[in-house]
Amino acid sequence: MAPGNGRKHEDYILVTRDEPKSPAAEAYRTLRTNLQFAALDTPLRVLLITSAGPGEGKTTIAANLAVAMAQSGSKVIVIGGDLRKPTLHLAFGLRNTVGLTNVLTGNVSWEAALQPTDVDGLYVLPAGPIPPNPAELLASTRMQELLAELKEQCDVVIIDAPPVLAVTDAGVMSRLSDGVLLVISVGVTPRDVAKAAKEQLEQVGARILGMVVNGLSSESGYYYYYYHRYYSLEDGTRRSTWLERLKNRLGAVRRRVGPASAETAAGRER
Ligand SMILES: Nc1ncnc2c1ncn2[C@@H]1O[C@H](COP(=O)(O)OP(=O)(O)O)[C@@H](O)[C@H]1O
Ligand SMILES: [Mg+2]
Repeated sequence: MAPGNGRKHEDYILVTRDEPKSPAAEAYRTLRTNLQFAALDTPLRVLLITSAGPGEGKTTIAANLAVAMAQSGSKVIVIGGDLRKPTLHLAFGLRNTVGLTNVLTGNVSWEAALQPTDVDGLYVLPAGPIPPNPAELLASTRMQELLAELKEQCDVVIIDAPPVLAVTDAGVMSRLSDGVLLVISVGVTPRDVAKAAKEQLEQVGARILGMVVNGLSSESGYYYYYYHRYYSLEDGTRRSTWLERLKNRLGAVRRRVGPASAETAAGRER
């Protein structure tokens, strides 16, 4: 399979940048605000975005949230942390020739690998070439040092992480972050699989800030056009009921916009 799972630039829509008045962009701004409240005690300087499996919207959400944060005046660095399926660069139309892999192996400085974007205050450190030993690289001392150095350069570092269940990378990286957002995709992530991902993160001591339910259904062939909702784990109800609450509130996301590709749906939103 091609690097990045065969995805291309057109597969990613930066609604926050291109359709800032759309409900989808507004939802990202709400997510941004919710995260500020979720992290009142410990400042959120390194935020990890992950999900149980592939294709659930991690990269899409990482990229759009990064834009939304930069739009509010924060200086943001977003890192392509999925070294096995590097696609973050695609969302911004950037190159992936040099990136995190090269920085971690010591070939390149982060200064040389960091790329500016067309959004003010937003920089991307793409994943770089797929290495033979991603887990080892991500667990290295160099990765810890790099995050410490990047934190000095900006207000928030967002990591577009690999999935939780397939490999150990996300768990390892979650320990280097101040908080984790777990993406759950409607119709894609089975309930027990989402639960397993959450438990696995908890086992490694990750601080899960909440869930983002991404309203994409591949099964039905319909797209719920970039709809997502954020659910806090600390909003006053019992922690153990998060899946119940999620289920109850999924109705809110089921706002089907039509039997269309994301593109057609985007047209409607304008
Ligand atoms: N809410 C959504 N609406 C429409 N398309 C989406 C949505 N979320 C993700 N996609 C698309 O699904 C594909 C997989 O998303 P991606 O963000 O790469 O997932 P992951 O990083 O979890 O593998 C991409 O082509 C992306 O554009
Ligand atoms: Mg991804």
